[in-house]
Amino acid sequence: MKLLSGNSNRVLAGAIAAHLDMPLTKAQVKRFADNEVFAMIEENVRGEDVFVIQSTSYPANDNLMELLILTDALVRASAKRITAVVPYFGYARQDRKTDGRTPISAKLVANLITRAGADRVLTMDLHAGQIQGFFDIPTDNLLATPVLAQDIKENYPRDNLMIISPDVGGVVRARSLAKRLDADLAIVDKRRPKAGESEVMNIIGDVEGRRCILFDDIVDSGGTLVNAAKALMDKGATEVSAYISHGVLSGPAVQRVADGPLKELVITDSIEQPDEVLKCPKIRRVSVAPLIGEAIRRIANEESVSKLFD
Ligand code: R5P
Repeated sequence: MKLLSGNSNRVLAGAIAAHLDMPLTKAQVKRFADNEVFAMIEENVRGEDVFVIQSTSYPANDNLMELLILTDALVRASAKRITAVVPYFGYARQDRKTDGRTPISAKLVANLITRAGADRVLTMDLHAGQIQGFFDIPTDNLLATPVLAQDIKENYPRDNLMIISPDVGGVVRARSLAKRLDADLAIVDKRRPKAGESEVMNIIGDVEGRRCILFDDIVDSGGTLVNAAKALMDKGATEVSAYISHGVLSGPAVQRVADGPLKELVITDSIEQPDEVLKCPKIRRVSVAPLIGEAIRRIANEESVSKLFD
């Protein structure tokens, strides 16, 4: 078995390798002068079970291209089985036609990964579970929920806790966290007047006097979280924090979190973060390296992955 990393999240790849107590396979992934991606695997991988770790986060197209080119290099180097380990699967929100003459880019990206030669995919908290079906190869969709639930247990008193889904689409995810914590659930009725903007219409549930935790898969511009936090405070919540699997954190997000009513934002390390995020006192990160490492170990040993979530 071999572990290989692209450039998108070398810190996480290193932590996964440390968890598995094995080194990352030596490889060069660099750019030609015109910015084309070049990859060279510097160790023999013939007949090996290889796991390529690469989130397709910002810059999504460059990171996706690195994943495809690394996979092609592995196919041509006669690897026995190639697993694309994509902790954050970019393009996932483009999972349906939103209008006439628009693409389904999540399906296209799934096709690209498959056609490049991946035999299986290991990812985490896909924006919608059914994206798993966009791949015609075995795909394991890990859940960060147990890791985040554990962090909540260690950092938040359980009395008066209320888990909040920031939109109707996230109810199943939020309910599963609420169940693990034996907490109540409330829902924000969010509307998107246009892409990138969110508006809170209503709160379904009584949050007065409650300690609220917003739970979602992605924080991108931060609009959803900050607007939801304001609405919850207006309805009498005593404090609002947020636990989010993927910290996309684009544009004004970090500033919005820093200036807004959120007490704390906890994200995983599925996406490597710039200094601006690492230095923000309100943002804390929890590692999913042990979870992904354990899933890799189980796949390599042909053991159950779903057992991890029992
Ligand atoms: C949407 O359905 C997702 O689950 C997130 O709520 C959304 O992507 C967050 O975006 P933003 O931070 O830009 O409001």
